[in-house]
Amino acid sequence: MRIILILIATVMITACNNFNPFLEEDLLKRPKAKRCADCHKKIYDQWKDSRHFHSWNSETFKRSSQNYSKVKCLSCHAPYEIKVGEKPELRNFHREDGINCASCHFKDETKSMHGPYKVFSPPHPSKQDLTYTKSEICSGCHQETYKEWKKTGSENSCQSCHMPSKKDKIIQKFPFDLFHSKKDLHNHSFPVLKASEKDLEIKISKEDESTILVTITNKTVPHNLPTADQGKPKFYVTVEFYKDDNKIDEDSQLILHKGDEAFVYQKPKTLEFTTFEEYNSISIKIERKLSWKKKRELIFFKKVRRDEIRDSGL
Ligand code: HEC
Ligand code: HEC
Ligand code: HEC
Ligand code: HEC
Ligand code: HEC
Repeated sequence: MRIILILIATVMITACNNFNPFLEEDLLKRPKAKRCADCHKKIYDQWKDSRHFHSWNSETFKRSSQNYSKVKCLSCHAPYEIKVGEKPELRNFHREDGINCASCHFKDETKSMHGPYKVFSPPHPSKQDLTYTKSEICSGCHQETYKEWKKTGSENSCQSCHMPSKKDKIIQKFPFDLFHSKKDLHNHSFPVLKASEKDLEIKISKEDESTILVTITNKTVPHNLPTADQGKPKFYVTVEFYKDDNKIDEDSQLILHKGDEAFVYQKPKTLEFTTFEEYNSISIKIERKLSWKKKRELIFFKKVRRDEIRDSGL
């Protein structure tokens, strides 16, 4: 079956010279993402779950762009064609699709889908383009995060964390699925991820009887925590003071993405927490709040007895 199909396909394509009977012209006209799902069903389902799909219909974006009236805000949220290192241009069709497949993969210059592989794809021309495997491809929109990443000198690309891969077919449609072997399918839900204890080094000491110092180092995430271009993600560090298991006081600090306010990669940051109450234990809590979520999420929690806390300088 497979052999016969390959034979028929090759004979038809070579015999007809430039004529490709499998070409589906509309794919070269930047169709909606749903159209790509006819063949790339798995990738489409992941993308549907991503913030890139929500970039246009997001309630918070709608509000902050004043119901799409701030034109300078729109192009990264509904781009025509992405460009390395450059803000993209605004698309004037299918905007509800947000950052869709064609805007990331189709290039006017070559009239083909650019991607990481050398593929045989009769329905549309494809071109191998290794920039897709590098952080640079994200840099036109995630400008600030890209700059932060670049400064760290990290060898891990954005994709290695935010598009983790697994061996699978990248196409699910008969008969094409028969011709193609499994490849690395990169997760198109672009998972946001969540920092955890293993990403952070946390040291606690006493400045004096009423002041606790907490020094936090972002050891592993090669950009600011939090990081943003236009969004307003936040971290909160809270120290709760207890006496005999009853909470008697708390002190909290807000951490924003800008400059030194954030947890910069491998740069220790010391925060001060004060109480005038008599306490015999404390807890440290780190939470984050993403721009588009209403609720905070817990990242780290630890309870410590007062006599376990060292004096600073020790
Ligand atoms: C066309 C511009 C554009 C390009 C190119 C782009 N992004 Fe995005 N990305 C956005 C926008 C806009 C959002 C926010 C969408 C929203 O939540 O409204 C976003 C959101 C995200 C998020 C979720 C962030 C959050 O706070 O929830 C991740 C992770 C992400 N992008 C990773 C990537 C990676 C990795 C690449 C490169 C492979 C990339 N992006 C390329 C514009 C872009
Ligand atoms: C250069 C590209 C670019 C432009 C221009 C841009 N954004 Fe974004 N926007 C992003 C990226 C990338 C994200 C992903 C999260 C982050 O890094 O802030 C994002 C995320 C957001 C978010 C958080 C996600 C959400 O859906 O709530 C809001 C709100 C937002 N942008 C509003 C705006 C507004 C308002 C403007 C105009 C002042 C604007 N954006 C212009 C790239 C852009
Ligand atoms: C009728 C089927 C079909 C449709 C519809 C289709 N593709 Fe494909 N596409 C293929 C085939 C076949 C391959 C090669 C698969 C393989 O080698 O495993 C492919 C490969 C690709 C690649 C990989 C290119 C590379 O060089 O790495 C990209 C990117 C791609 N398609 C994007 C799209 C986009 C975007 C759409 C929607 C606008 C789309 N495709 C619609 C059949 C299709
Ligand atoms: C924000 C940009 C972006 C969007 C949106 C996007 N892709 Fe991709 N896509 C990429 C990048 C980057 C890679 C390469 C990842 C790598 O090799 O590290 C990729 C890889 C691919 C591949 C090759 C297989 C793989 O997983 O590596 C196919 C096929 C593909 N995309 C199809 C699609 C389709 C279909 C959609 C829409 C449902 C889509 N892409 C949406 C950026 C995007
Ligand atoms: C070593 C893995 C790693 C690499 C490489 C990486 N990130 Fe992240 N990224 C993370 C983790 C972990 C988080 C979750 C932080 C948290 O808890 O909010 C994150 C969060 C984000 C967020 C959401 C905002 C936030 O502060 O939570 C965006 C946007 C983002 N990364 C974009 C990028 C871009 C763009 C690149 C490449 C320039 C990149 N990341 C490289 C691990 C990574």
